[in-house]
Amino acid sequence: MKNIVVLVSGGGTNLQALIDAQNRGEITGGKITCVVSSNPDAYALTRAQNNGIATEVIRRKDYDAFEKYDAALTELLKSKNADLIVLAGFMTILGSQVIRAFENRIINIHPALIPSFCGEGFYGLRVHEAALEKGVKVTGATAHFVNEICDGGPIILQKAVAVQNGDTPEVLQKRVMEQAEWQILPKAVALFCEDKIKVTGNTTEITE
Ligand code: GRF
Repeated sequence: MKNIVVLVSGGGTNLQALIDAQNRGEITGGKITCVVSSNPDAYALTRAQNNGIATEVIRRKDYDAFEKYDAALTELLKSKNADLIVLAGFMTILGSQVIRAFENRIINIHPALIPSFCGEGFYGLRVHEAALEKGVKVTGATAHFVNEICDGGPIILQKAVAVQNGDTPEVLQKRVMEQAEWQILPKAVALFCEDKIKVTGNTTEITE
């Protein structure tokens, strides 16, 4: 059984999708053992507590240097014996120590079809605003491993979502979450926990 540690900052609907998938028996090779938040007021912490999952808070602002924060987060995740780390709306940039310590063991969900609308500055509603400004007819979500390039790690799963007439960033964000993020993030986690993701360089192969 792999130990899954989920990193959050906000509402935690992706965390909820993971908990729901776990409760439906869809994540057979792993268990969510801890939820770590960058924000002590995140509703995601309540979701964890409601499901009997341990919680921790680590705030960037409690460290005077980024390297110290990076080292503390790395130590925290090691102390939790994390086999897999899931970024489910975690709003603090990860440092090189944690990324190297958990190479190809950190999964992020990005609300667009990478390599579109990704990289520095593309987070939250901004991603959907950019998709609407460009006028794309299809967007979606990507589950990928995290490396030192922002949104640049090996892609695990992607799912497309149609843009509709009159969409606002908020409406599109909700559709992308419902139709893509909440489906492919638990699926990617399940595949990882069953050792079904083979990484070669910057690509993956799913062995179902
Ligand atoms: C999602 O849109 C996710 O793609 C992005 O941050 C948001 C998190 O939302 N990385 P929630 O906290 O899971 O509800």
